[in-house]
Amino acid sequence: MKIVSQIKAPIEYEMELFEKKFQLSMSSKISLLNRITHYVVNRKGKQMRPMFVFLIAKMSNNGEVNERTYRGASVIELIHTATLVHDDVVDDSNRRRGFFSINALWKNKIAVLVGDFLLSKGLLLSIDNDDFDLLKIISVAVREMSEGELLQIEKARNLDITEDIYFEIIRQKTATLIAACCAMGAKSVNADADKVENMRKFGALIGIAFQIKDDLFDYGDDQIGKPTGIDIKERKMTLPLIYVLNNASEKDKRWLINSVKNHNKDAKRVKEVIRFVKDNGGLEYAIEAMKGYQQRALELLHMYPTTPYKESLELMVNYVIDRRQ
Ligand code: IPE
Ligand code: IPE
Ligand code: MG
Ligand code: MG
Repeated sequence: MKIVSQIKAPIEYEMELFEKKFQLSMSSKISLLNRITHYVVNRKGKQMRPMFVFLIAKMSNNGEVNERTYRGASVIELIHTATLVHDDVVDDSNRRRGFFSINALWKNKIAVLVGDFLLSKGLLLSIDNDDFDLLKIISVAVREMSEGELLQIEKARNLDITEDIYFEIIRQKTATLIAACCAMGAKSVNADADKVENMRKFGALIGIAFQIKDDLFDYGDDQIGKPTGIDIKERKMTLPLIYVLNNASEKDKRWLINSVKNHNKDAKRVKEVIRFVKDNGGLEYAIEAMKGYQQRALELLHMYPTTPYKESLELMVNYVIDRRQ
């Protein structure tokens, strides 16, 4: 069986019902908006966040989920979708999930407003149902994601990123949402506070590994449904490049920084930088770091008894590292 079907097997029923509820959660009276959200729903992503929500809820509550779990999964996916719509404006990216991005089709103005709409729909879904404990978990993630994206822009302007700051950026922009979705899975079924906290930590670790993997994709030429090689173009320095910079001679360092600063739109020069990073162990270093987070995440699952949900979560941790898109 394909690994994704294997992961989904114990939550098949929940994921199917989730998709229906998720689609309904985006409805609006504005027909332009409905056209666009329809476009979004028909190009679904990997849905890893809802999968985490359901697997963790079931693992924490003897295989039972409830309406709060479904709403939690929808809120997370709505907010995730909103941030992708905004992120493609910020990164000036024209492809997403194998198709044109919203900004490519409808332009930035509309993409900004659609992102805001999806974000508000997510928050209101919690508010309207008095899920205030879940809302608290998610709101922190929303704030941190904006801060993370802005910190990234600040570092792209000054080109003074360090490894510590890189980890802080990816913790904020990616890992906090995954941490929130794991905490929410447990909280939705009223798990004890220490169990919720354990799952939050699990999500934070796997979220870091997830973004390192995403940053590694940018160095490859595989078809991943979105552009590759655009991080340097946007002056985004990620772990492979940061490592290589820290270990390069003064001369190479000057060449690298100058390339990212003044020649970042020159495709040939960007290719040379990518080549340099590959030739100097940048990818291997990032892969090792990613595996470290994977191991630490797996350790946090040890305390749970063996169930199909736990086994799927273990497979999912490995899928974060091995996935092809
Ligand atoms: C993409 O997330 C954004 C990052 C945090 C790297 P996903 O890779 O989960 O996107 P979809 O939902 O599957 O398209
Ligand atoms: C993650 O960073 C963005 C968000 C947290 C929304 P990226 O900019 O690398 O994500 P992709 O590669 O566009 O999906
Ligand atoms: Mg992006
Ligand atoms: Mg990326």
